[in-house]
Amino acid sequence: MRSEVILETIGLWSGYGGKPVLQGVDLTIREGEIVAIIGRNGVGKSTLIKSLIGLLPSDKGSVLFRTKPIDALAAYLRARLGIGYVPQGRDVFPRMSVLENIAVGESIGGSVSNDMLSTIFRFFPILLERKNQLAGTLSGGQQQQLAIGRVLMGAPSLVLLDEPSEGIQPSIVQDIARIMVELNRRTGVTIVFVEQNIDMIRAMAQRCYVMDKGRVVAELTKDMLQDRETVRRYLSV
Ligand SMILES: Nc1ncnc2c1ncn2[C@@H]1O[C@H](COP(=O)(O)OP(=O)(O)OP(=O)(O)O)[C@@H](O)[C@H]1O
Ligand SMILES: [Mg+2]
Repeated sequence: MRSEVILETIGLWSGYGGKPVLQGVDLTIREGEIVAIIGRNGVGKSTLIKSLIGLLPSDKGSVLFRTKPIDALAAYLRARLGIGYVPQGRDVFPRMSVLENIAVGESIGGSVSNDMLSTIFRFFPILLERKNQLAGTLSGGQQQQLAIGRVLMGAPSLVLLDEPSEGIQPSIVQDIARIMVELNRRTGVTIVFVEQNIDMIRAMAQRCYVMDKGRVVAELTKDMLQDRETVRRYLSV
């Protein structure tokens, strides 16, 4: 049996200052899936993620969360519905400790949850180890884990990640991919991630949308993802 659709875009257009970037994006994400959005630099991947979380308005078409249009909702309201967002470049607060950074995420969910905190530390033990360290002194990979941990404090049912591998060394990329797959398996959280790193795509994604010039131009199935050359070819579409 196929699970319910959690997120859908229908003919979505958006852009900056009247200049369109997304030009009719259609995608469908089901509950519990891990789906990658891939494509070259500048094709509109981050623009798509920003439109999903509500940092950019939909100019035409629609974003639906659990079958209801959310185009009119500001980003913080979408976060409250259960959509978590980790931006490209991570944006942790460098002069705050790891624990303080995580506490910022807590305010989005509205409830204090020690359970959630222990869950985060179980998946990301490095955050427990470094909990009193200033976030700005962490490595790129540790900051990425912190940014993900912070978002999990809001108990999202859907997490959007924008290029989680960016600036992270290969061995850590594999670690983060493994943790995210485990998190998905154990908690059922749906994950949509933008990525250009072929190893991270193949380690995490169950399926893949390929973007070019503001549109989805192809979809890669699980079988197609098995073949490294196929993925490489689509990354350079
Ligand atoms: N704030 C902005 N104002 C105006 N144009 C923008 C802005 N952000 C992005 N763009 C433009 O929109 C287009 C798509 O950018 P976007 O950041 O979505 O690409 P991307 O696929 O995420 O690329 P990358 O892989 O480099 O992160 C590009 O032409 C870019 O120059
Ligand atoms: Mg981007």
